[in-house]
Amino acid sequence: MRARSVLAFCAFIVTVRSTLRTDRQFWTDLAHNELEEALKIKWNLNPAKNVILFIGDGMGPNTVTAARIYKGGESHRLVYEKFPHMGLLKTYSANKMVPDSACTATAMFSGVKVNQDTVGVDASVQHRDCEAGLKAEARLKSLAALALEADKSAGFVTTMRVTHATPSPLYAHSASRSWECEARLPDNSPCKDIARQLVEDWPGRDLQVIMGGGRQQLVSNATGTEQDPINLSPWTCYRQDGRNLIEQYKTDKQTRGFKHSVIMNNRELAELNVNETDYLLGIFSNEHLSYDHERNKGPDGMPSLSEMVGAAIKVLQKNKKGYFLMVEGGNVDMAHHRGWAKVAVNEAVAMEEAVQLAADMTDAEDTLLVVTSDHTHTLSINGYPDRGSSIFGIAQPSSHDGINYTTLSYGTGGPGSFQFYVQTDTTGSHVMRREPSKEDTEQYNYTQVAGIQLVENYHGGGDVAVYARGPYSHLFHNVHEQHYVFHAISYAAKLGAYSSSTSLQVNVFHLAIITAISFFML
Ligand SMILES: *[C@@H]1O[C@H](CO)[C@@H](O)[C@H](O)[C@H]1NC(C)=O
Ligand SMILES: *[C@@H]1O[C@H](CO)[C@@H](O)[C@H](O)[C@H]1NC(C)=O
Ligand SMILES: *[C@@H]1O[C@H](CO)[C@@H](O)[C@H](O)[C@H]1NC(C)=O
Ligand SMILES: *[C@@H]1O[C@H](CO)[C@@H](O)[C@H](O)[C@H]1NC(C)=O
Ligand SMILES: [Zn+2]
Repeated sequence: MRARSVLAFCAFIVTVRSTLRTDRQFWTDLAHNELEEALKIKWNLNPAKNVILFIGDGMGPNTVTAARIYKGGESHRLVYEKFPHMGLLKTYSANKMVPDSACTATAMFSGVKVNQDTVGVDASVQHRDCEAGLKAEARLKSLAALALEADKSAGFVTTMRVTHATPSPLYAHSASRSWECEARLPDNSPCKDIARQLVEDWPGRDLQVIMGGGRQQLVSNATGTEQDPINLSPWTCYRQDGRNLIEQYKTDKQTRGFKHSVIMNNRELAELNVNETDYLLGIFSNEHLSYDHERNKGPDGMPSLSEMVGAAIKVLQKNKKGYFLMVEGGNVDMAHHRGWAKVAVNEAVAMEEAVQLAADMTDAEDTLLVVTSDHTHTLSINGYPDRGSSIFGIAQPSSHDGINYTTLSYGTGGPGSFQFYVQTDTTGSHVMRREPSKEDTEQYNYTQVAGIQLVENYHGGGDVAVYARGPYSHLFHNVHEQHYVFHAISYAAKLGAYSSSTSLQVNVFHLAIITAISFFML
């Protein structure tokens, strides 16, 4: 009986394998489809009325490859992999070869590279130098601010706390990303926490859409934690100054006569009256939102990234002059930090669903979609698993010690990823790897092996890909600086310094004069 089921299983595998085509016609068709697409590409020189910028946090090229294979096999294509234009971004910061999420978001939203862990301030500000960050000339203007100045709407959606590293540079200026609430500020600091900047200051108070987690950053002594315990790790904070910034938000919108909605769960999101909502605040969790596979999908639970994106676009597209929307899939990064490759990949798939929805809800004629990441992780895809095998499975035994290794592994990892032990026998002591076939590598909580043990998996420093569709998407075409994203988007949407199309030529003219002067000075 047992032998028979093993046989049946083998037959199943053979069937699956045999469906993988290898004939010449198959490969030729694949390539012809791509060639036809390539020959159809035309530059879209319309002004970008709307811009949606997707950031898969920590979603480096290997995460995208793994997501593609997980979803449909090696030949599958994710929705943004069919966008007409793409490039690579160099992610280094003003002071680090390998960056964090605050400096990279600041670069993409405000157009200059800045120091690690700083938010919305230029590189004259060192990490935690509050006074330097208060100087007006150090403060950077974001794409959201420029969109509002152009009478467009602006907003953001994230699976992280709304005060976290990626969204905060849209609206805040802070010498430290960790000053999310007053409890993390140094004693007697003249600096204002990030949550208060979101609700009290411009441009935060004028953003039409704010959705994500982070209630405990906004409301003093927040309770009703849904799935999230009050987490006092050094990476978060807990407001205790008596303020209720959600009530402050409502009062501000009421006072200014703005139609607004404040929602906190799936039921309220489903019942949202878009016609009666010009300003939308959705706070669905005390902390970050849950991983998509663990999320409570019921009426009291929290929405998916694509459900938030759908509501955001409906509210923002009411503005006839257009909008800027930033969407962060932040749990890709959170899962990689824990060494859970399958969770990270699943989060990348959840973000792709949101991209698909945005692509369906918008018109490529007037809406620029940009999909990218802020930095990589050290995920690698190891040789040589068979085509068609599970991306989360075993590659093969090591020729060195005969112990299997998984297709996915990490360069750095936390304690859970350190799958080595010391074995002492007659020939002495050896460092051994744990045998992965003795564990279920397909579980979400399986931690892939990491080479170097740290407190957690650290970011990687490789380039990230940027994919674009719509007006001026061809501006993404080779290996770019990360802060170029701001300039390309501003140019496409005619924002800020690029609001008149001659401004770039003026800059080129200045450059020519400077070149001429330096020539004569030689
Ligand atoms: C919040 O909790 C802290 C610590 O438990 C307490 O000292 C403080 O008075 C509380 N604040 C409010 C506004 O309830
Ligand atoms: C919202 O407004 C649109 C256009 O004015 C209208 O067609 C639609 O019926 C309204 N929906 C609701 C729920 O009021
Ligand atoms: C390696 O994994 C395979 C299954 O993929 C298993 O059959 C084999 O026993 C494993 N090798 C060792 C040394 O455990
Ligand atoms: C992983 O999840 C499975 C299923 O939920 C559970 O049985 C197992 O104990 C978990 N493993 C670890 C290491 O947490
Ligand atoms: Zn990170």
